Amino acid sequence: MQELRPRLKAAAALVRGGSAVADIGTDHAYLPAWLLLHGVAPRVIACDIGEKPLANAAETVKIYHLAKKIDLRVSDGLANVRPGEYGAVTICGMGGTLIAEILEKATLPVDVQLVLQPMTHVEDVRAWLCRNGFAIDREICVKDAGRVYCCISADRTGTPRAAEPGFCYFGTLTGETEEERAFLRKTCARVKTRADALAAADRFPEEQALLRQALHYYETNYSNDRKRPL
Ligand SMILES: C[S@@+](CC[C@H](N)C(=O)[O-])C[C@H]1O[C@@H](n2cnc3c(N)ncnc32)[C@H](O)[C@@H]1O
Repeated sequence: MQELRPRLKAAAALVRGGSAVADIGTDHAYLPAWLLLHGVAPRVIACDIGEKPLANAAETVKIYHLAKKIDLRVSDGLANVRPGEYGAVTICGMGGTLIAEILEKATLPVDVQLVLQPMTHVEDVRAWLCRNGFAIDREICVKDAGRVYCCISADRTGTPRAAEPGFCYFGTLTGETEEERAFLRKTCARVKTRADALAAADRFPEEQALLRQALHYYETNYSNDRKRPL
């Protein structure tokens, strides 16, 4: 099949495989098709909240003769998928806040793998993972069409932990690739812009304090030459 764009290719690389995948917000079902055609998943439940995206997905299913392996479903998040039907969930190309809302409403299997690729607000995704007893196994940053994205794989530990601002914004990234450094710098700039705007407007002191903690974490962990220079 046609190569996936880098954003989805990074997500595909994180899927461990071997079990059925529920792809939420599938649109054209490019990721499900790739996982099936490369033997990563035996079956995919490709879900979308909209009929039009599912019509796009049906085209892909037809082109690659995947009708026996892809189950197309109208579903708001995982509402129409039972936990026993899949071992991994992929949610790509949505805002991080929406991804966290979808996960919050879901009943997930105990041993589920989560592969999440937020377009914005990655901190909301990591905060949800912390609070709900998931640990990040791997994160990949990629450049795609002039933007840099972070893709996260997480597994359940069963032990919730505090969503520390530094971890939520910067995660497990070490800055070892150019893409990671770009993503870290971009995130830091975003945090700083928001913190400065709130300070200038004298609003939301609690959020300001969290943002300052995140900036302190960044300076401590990445910006000095003893640690991980960016
Ligand atoms: C920008 S597309 C991303 C498509 C593909 N996953 C990708 O990364 O290229 C987002 C898709 O998510 C769907 N979507 C939005 N909210 C959803 C929800 N609550 N449940 C399921 N799908 C949703 C939209 O209809 C849309 O097709």
